[in-house]
Amino acid sequence: EERERQQMRKALDLATKLFHYVLVSTKHGRIAREYLENRGVRPETIKEFQLGYAPSSFQFLLSFLKARGFSEDILEKVGLITSWERGNNKKFYDRFRHRIMFPIHDSQGKVVGFGGRALGDGHPKYLNSPDTVLFHKRNHLYNLHRARSHIRKNLQAVLFEGYMDVITAWQAGVEQVVATLGTALNENQARILRRNAGTVILCYDSDAAGQSAAMRGLEQLKSEELTVKVAQMPAGMDPDDYIRRFGGTAFKEEILATAMSLTAFKLESFKKKYHLQDEDQRMKYLSEAIEVIAELPKAIEQDHYLRRLAEEFQLSLDALKEEQRKATKRRK
Ligand code: UTP
Ligand code: MN
Ligand code: MN
Ligand code: MN
Ligand code: MN
Repeated sequence: EERERQQMRKALDLATKLFHYVLVSTKHGRIAREYLENRGVRPETIKEFQLGYAPSSFQFLLSFLKARGFSEDILEKVGLITSWERGNNKKFYDRFRHRIMFPIHDSQGKVVGFGGRALGDGHPKYLNSPDTVLFHKRNHLYNLHRARSHIRKNLQAVLFEGYMDVITAWQAGVEQVVATLGTALNENQARILRRNAGTVILCYDSDAAGQSAAMRGLEQLKSEELTVKVAQMPAGMDPDDYIRRFGGTAFKEEILATAMSLTAFKLESFKKKYHLQDEDQRMKYLSEAIEVIAELPKAIEQDHYLRRLAEEFQLSLDALKEEQRKATKRRK
């Protein structure tokens, strides 16, 4: 069905152009323009990312594309419209209404879908295109086609949760940045990152959801050839908030440069489970920490973290090494 795919691509291209035009050049786009301006998104960034606005109407895109010869069938298959049925009466309408539109490109730079952010507190906050024959969310990273050369040049990729994190970072000169599309990092995306970068820095929101997503992302990325690190946002912030407040240079120097190793991140997050002032709890934490260290493949790495633990808890390195040897034996 090559012809059908071509039609679908064309519909996505036209929708991208139409939404962008409405945003930048019409009075209907004014509220959306003001919204983006308030969030610090500059006009040249809106252009670069081809951001758009889908108006409130139920038939705006639908009638525009129908007038250009696209069938409802194609438009529904590509996820731009949806339908509801009453009896044998099927009614079609625009999927995205009153939303800021983020075109999602494949690795060759062709639009394959959209993310749409509600203006104000509409629900859901982000609505994404459904999976279609052109768009499998599992296989995509937002912004990969723009970021790839920067990832290769920096030998580093930064992985965010959100579209806005990517856009704000890019605008501030941090260009090796991509995001998953509202799902947990999966194997395909991990493979893409491994192919392009030597180091991946996970930089998720500082809330609980973001931190547990980071932990799962770490497991997914674990591999011989890749260095994985976790950057920490100050409480209550995501990368977009941080960069708008402190700028791209601070983000590079304070956040990316201080990203923790996988082991350090695990040790830090396990620590939060225990009340370390309590002796029993402290011992439990130390046992768990030693288990983590015993998993490390290299003796020098084990030594490094054991020394840190010894210093932090005023313990003898020999005692910790002894415990680690026992833990290693138990693992075999
Ligand atoms: P966040 O809620 O952290 O979004 O979700 P954000 O980018 O910080 O949103 P702003 O700053 O309020 O605009 C992170 C990502 O999770 C996906 C989107 O991809 C979003 O960018 N998401 C979030 C959804 O798919 N649906 C939702 O309802 C919310
Ligand atoms: Mn496919
Ligand atoms: Mn979040
Ligand atoms: Mn966020
Ligand atoms: Mn945000």
